[in-house]
Amino acid sequence: MLKIDVLTIFPEFFREVFDFGIIRRARLAEIVEVNVHDIREFTTDKHRMTDDRPFGGGDGMVFKAEPIFNAIEKLLGTTEREKYPPATRVVLLSPQGQVFKQATAKEYADSAKRVVLICGRYEGVDERVNEALVTDEISIGDYVLSGGEPAAIVLTDAIVRLLPNALGSETSAENDSFSSGLLDYPHYTRPADFRGMKVPDVLLNGNHAEIEKWRREKALEKTRKYRKDLLSKENS
Ligand code: ADE
Repeated sequence: MLKIDVLTIFPEFFREVFDFGIIRRARLAEIVEVNVHDIREFTTDKHRMTDDRPFGGGDGMVFKAEPIFNAIEKLLGTTEREKYPPATRVVLLSPQGQVFKQATAKEYADSAKRVVLICGRYEGVDERVNEALVTDEISIGDYVLSGGEPAAIVLTDAIVRLLPNALGSETSAENDSFSSGLLDYPHYTRPADFRGMKVPDVLLNGNHAEIEKWRREKALEKTRKYRKDLLSKENS
């Protein structure tokens, strides 16, 4: 079973998000265990401070190293990366990281046994956390969030749904957008005529070869329109 631990100063942020849909089902089926930890619990000073002023000056505050080191020590039994339990990933969510892709989610779902997600806050995290503890620094895209919390939810969702038996049907993840290197094709359900808007005939005639061809064309069309970058890599 995959074990995911989230380190955050806002544990309340996660109170209900893991209680719905696929993640809830996977937790109940013991496919995954998700635990959320309050980093403030790992402070040792009287004021339970998790941030401090930056050396060298500048705006904003910096997340202190110590509470994060203490939390990792408690969770993994060590703060030496080489001594982490096998197949452990310690992820720092930050806009400086490498961009999270479907392939990253797949790699984690296939091979990780333990994933610790550190949610950054403030202007940044003391770099010694990166130097000593982090195995992967990950961003969910080229924009700045006010903290890593939404990103931790994104990673958890994307990884958990790829775990064996997490989805109802084995094929549903294989047909996802990106698995083929393209965006997904359009979908329709009943009624065939909704307020005068008709479902394309090809989907109604039962010719599976034609349907496949139509879907691939539509997927290419969408990908060309919105994500040319995907085409240049693999499907050009
Ligand atoms: N924290 C702030 N912005 C972020 C981003 N884009 N991805 C991951 N963590 C973040």
